[in-house]
Amino acid sequence: MKVAVVGATGLVGSVMLKVLAERNFPLTELIPVASAKSAGQKVEFKGKNYTVVTMDEAIGMKPDVALFSAGGSTSLQDAPRFAEAGTTVIDNSSAWRMDPDKKLIVPEVNAHVLTSLDKIIANPNCSTIQMVVVLNPLHEKYKIKRVVVSTYQSVTGTGVKAVEQMMNERKGIEGEMAYPYPIDLNVIPQIDVFQENGYTKEEMKMILETKKIMGDDSIQVTATTVRIPVMGGHSESVNIEFENDFDLAEVRGLLEDEEGIIVVDDPANLKYPMPMDAHEKDEVFVGRIRRDESQPKTLNLWIVADNLRKGAATNAVQIAEYLIQKNLI
Ligand SMILES: NC(=O)c1ccc[n+]([C@@H]2O[C@H](COP(=O)([O-])OP(=O)(O)OC[C@H]3O[C@@H](n4cnc5c(N)ncnc54)[C@H](OP(=O)(O)O)[C@@H]3O)[C@@H](O)[C@H]2O)c1
Repeated sequence: MKVAVVGATGLVGSVMLKVLAERNFPLTELIPVASAKSAGQKVEFKGKNYTVVTMDEAIGMKPDVALFSAGGSTSLQDAPRFAEAGTTVIDNSSAWRMDPDKKLIVPEVNAHVLTSLDKIIANPNCSTIQMVVVLNPLHEKYKIKRVVVSTYQSVTGTGVKAVEQMMNERKGIEGEMAYPYPIDLNVIPQIDVFQENGYTKEEMKMILETKKIMGDDSIQVTATTVRIPVMGGHSESVNIEFENDFDLAEVRGLLEDEEGIIVVDDPANLKYPMPMDAHEKDEVFVGRIRRDESQPKTLNLWIVADNLRKGAATNAVQIAEYLIQKNLI
């Protein structure tokens, strides 16, 4: 199993290498790929140094799998070139997510739709992944009518430059800006660009991707996505209205039984999920589980996950593991 990691010098790519190593992914050859400026650099994997190669060199090596996290335009241009060479691409950018011919996968929810014909598979947006992992078991049991979500997103979601901006501001150093405003000691209610309807692209991703992954266009979603000066993970306040009423203890039980979810919900002992606890973990954490007392059949939740892990690298590696397990590559 030859595995290319495209964007290996980036934030998601470097976590991808860690996750592949930790999970003992059955690879026989690792091909780290980045832009021409990084070719020749070394990256470490399982105690060995590997030389970063260019896209063309990597395509020539015909990997079995390419895990892409190198931006949308790179994916649009180069993922089809890998696919033509017989490689199965799992892409972290937004380039292919809403393409009706491409599958958008969160393994806990919809891996069963994958076939060996899927050569470019899309990994959803980080804030969508952590939300649907929690919504799915609740939808199966109580049928969701509407979701209102507000996010509190980590600077690591923007990449290396954003982390540098925050750290520079913290040290009083003038440097390159990844955001239009200072992020340290601030909150920016804009993630990605504004659309004609007044929502941002990140908000529209959460709305459209949720329906596609869960295979149900009837689920209504409205989102407000916000960047906060935090590292370690994204947090979400989620309000869910169901068709059918629920029992709170049963909701907790359903979530506790779900693989990949950890319930941290003990207000009496001040236990709830926080990004500093989710950091470098693969699971999605849920807490503050309570009835919305303002209307019937409605639940409030607080969801936290490491956006570089379950929101990106871990989800992509889990997709690859599923393909191998089912002999689809
Ligand atoms: N951060 C997150 O939480 C998150 C979550 C889900 C998805 N994503 C997506 O993952 C992608 C990467 O995000 P990131 O946060 O890791 O960004 P990043 O830290 O800026 O890293 C970008 C990576 O892409 C490489 N790259 C850029 N242009 C390239 C080209 N033309 N050919 C080959 N490699 C190229 C860079 O190589 P150089 O070092 O040589 O420039 C670097 O390795 C984006 O599409 C992003 O939307 C990010």
